[in-house]
Amino acid sequence: MSAAAPRVGVIGLGYVGLPLAAAFAEAGVPVLGLDAIQSKVDQINAGRSYIEDIPSDRLAPLTAAGLIRATTSWDDIRQVDAVLICLPTPLDEHREPDLSAVLGAAESLAPRLRQGQLVVLESTTYPGTTRDELAPILERSGLRAGRDFALAYSPERVDPGRVDWTTRTTPKVVGGLTPECTRRAAEIYGLAMDTIVEVSTPEVAEMTKLLENIFRSVNIALVNELAVLCDRMGIDVWDVIDAAATKPFGYMPFRPGPGLGGHCIPIDPFYLTWKAREFDFHTEFIELAGKINSQMPAFCVAKVIRALNSRRQSLNGSRVLVVGVAYKKNVNDTRESPALRIIDLLAADGGIVSYHDGYVATLATRGLESVPLSAETLAAHDVIVVVTDHDGIDWERIVAHAPLVVDLRRAVPDAPNVWRL
Ligand SMILES: NC(=O)c1ccc[n+]([C@@H]2O[C@H](COP(=O)([O-])OP(=O)(O)OC[C@H]3O[C@@H](n4cnc5c(N)ncnc54)[C@H](O)[C@@H]3O)[C@@H](O)[C@H]2O)c1
Repeated sequence: MSAAAPRVGVIGLGYVGLPLAAAFAEAGVPVLGLDAIQSKVDQINAGRSYIEDIPSDRLAPLTAAGLIRATTSWDDIRQVDAVLICLPTPLDEHREPDLSAVLGAAESLAPRLRQGQLVVLESTTYPGTTRDELAPILERSGLRAGRDFALAYSPERVDPGRVDWTTRTTPKVVGGLTPECTRRAAEIYGLAMDTIVEVSTPEVAEMTKLLENIFRSVNIALVNELAVLCDRMGIDVWDVIDAAATKPFGYMPFRPGPGLGGHCIPIDPFYLTWKAREFDFHTEFIELAGKINSQMPAFCVAKVIRALNSRRQSLNGSRVLVVGVAYKKNVNDTRESPALRIIDLLAADGGIVSYHDGYVATLATRGLESVPLSAETLAAHDVIVVVTDHDGIDWERIVAHAPLVVDLRRAVPDAPNVWRL
């Protein structure tokens, strides 16, 4: 890449922002990353990563070559050609969209915005955010969106822990305020990504992301509901799903589990529910899926109680070892993890809970530390509850040494002491 290579600014160096920064840097595009947390900035500048998908030995050469630099200073963002916003979009205490980080970033950016810069929002949000919320704040600069600076939305599709699709190879949807905004965004992303999918407006791009997440939430809820019914009917739902998946068309397998977790699927659909109210519309699939998925931890704990009961034991006073507290396999992210709810429910009924997770050393909010999965530890617990099926766990050893296992992920081989979801 020549010295005239465009410089990209990535705002928010988390699960989304850091892989994005690495993808551009690996394509030879210099990246300036901005984060509010000084310790993260310091770690990145030292070539040390805190995001598993970007190991330090991948980050360090990029930092050393000057292709990635991190800062906390908004003034530095004036230097970049494109500003890509990857900030959190959680729900507030009333389960309504909390856009404060994104809108706060726009306020910081506005007085520093330059003629000709491109601004792209990547954070998941409801349709209309880019045009109706972001543009007016950025236009306080005196510059007009779509005329003096380009503005677009491009949803992030990263799936932490996935290795078969990367930031580079996953097609990137972009929708600009004007065709020229779309073209500018496509041009920048085309430097680091193999396939760019241009859509007509930011609203189409915003809704695309929500459709993808709602599709997952609804399908997971469907199999979770069937799992509960099959449990009652004595039918093995996993066998049913495997058999259905042999149909070569018109079916896509989803697996049941202890409930949804992470920063996306449990949260994003409710951005649309909130926005839909403005249009006097109720998003019933989203609500129903949320309800079914959120009931899974309680169903799983009931299963633990039944398993103990079959041995004339009560949960009250039993030692319970939860295996896996991250919200899904091979990641260290515990945000919204169903394991937390399961731990709380177990403890509320008198369970003495400990946990093992090779990715999560401590659960400070629960005052717990990961314990090793030794034969002695397994034997010292009344029941092992498998919540997250990280690779590399010795499932055979669990079955061999634990008196009782409740497997919520179909990770453990079938055995007389194993109860399965
Ligand atoms: N994590 C995923 O798998 C995933 C996938 C697709 C889309 N998304 C979406 O991408 C967005 C970002 O998610 P994430 O998982 O990367 O979040 P994250 O919490 O991992 O990262 C956000 C980063 O922004 C920083 N930050 C927060 N407020 C800031 C501020 N005001 N100024 C500067 N920096 C600030 C934080 O320190 C953090 O490093 C969200 O909208 C999310 O829904 C996430």
